[in-house]
Amino acid sequence: MKIFLDTAEADKIRRFAEMGMVDGVTTNPTLILKSGRKQKDAILEICKLVPGPVSVEGVSEKAKDMAADGEEFASWAANVVVKVPMTEEGLRAVRMLSKKGIKTNVTLVFSAAQALLAAKAGATFVSPFLGRLDDVGEEGMELVRQIVAIYRNYGFKTSVLAASIRSPLHVVQAALAGADISTVPPDVLEKMFRHGFTDAGIKKFLEDYNSAKKKTG
Ligand code: E4P
Repeated sequence: MKIFLDTAEADKIRRFAEMGMVDGVTTNPTLILKSGRKQKDAILEICKLVPGPVSVEGVSEKAKDMAADGEEFASWAANVVVKVPMTEEGLRAVRMLSKKGIKTNVTLVFSAAQALLAAKAGATFVSPFLGRLDDVGEEGMELVRQIVAIYRNYGFKTSVLAASIRSPLHVVQAALAGADISTVPPDVLEKMFRHGFTDAGIKKFLEDYNSAKKKTG
């Protein structure tokens, strides 16, 4: 499974990109606000750090405007993917953009029916929002399982991008469900490295190494 970072903060991306851990990046207007930077500046820097797909989202509501925004975003860098919301107008924009060879990520997907339509429209990626469904007492992961099964049944080429990830467990479950990608906030990626037993094991090995050295020199 590929790992994307769900952030617009270049410093956080750089740290993990240097390790080759970042296959792509997703942003949205909330994440741009959090970065404190102008959207274009943030995206240009991110696109240099990560060669993989970088999702960029606008706020237009009409297909024509979304497509125009998308063309503008796509002109910024070769790896820009245009994020459009899961609406009828959004899917019209997906069709217009894909005709021009521009990749799209259909976002704010909360049902399998929506994901089916996004794939039929020719979306490159579809983003089911797990955490937001869990927040309201629905099982986000079940949605990922359903989308993966539907896409497999019909050979849709759209990649399933598990989004609104809140924990390492979400990432593991999305991988088991067959999601192509998880987009992960940096703090969740950081947690994925860690386990208390790993730290305790390192500490014990160091103590024993020093004890052995004292005894045998
Ligand atoms: C995905 O592309 C979105 O940017 C993101 O995963 C939304 O997550 P949130 O529910 O934590 O805002």
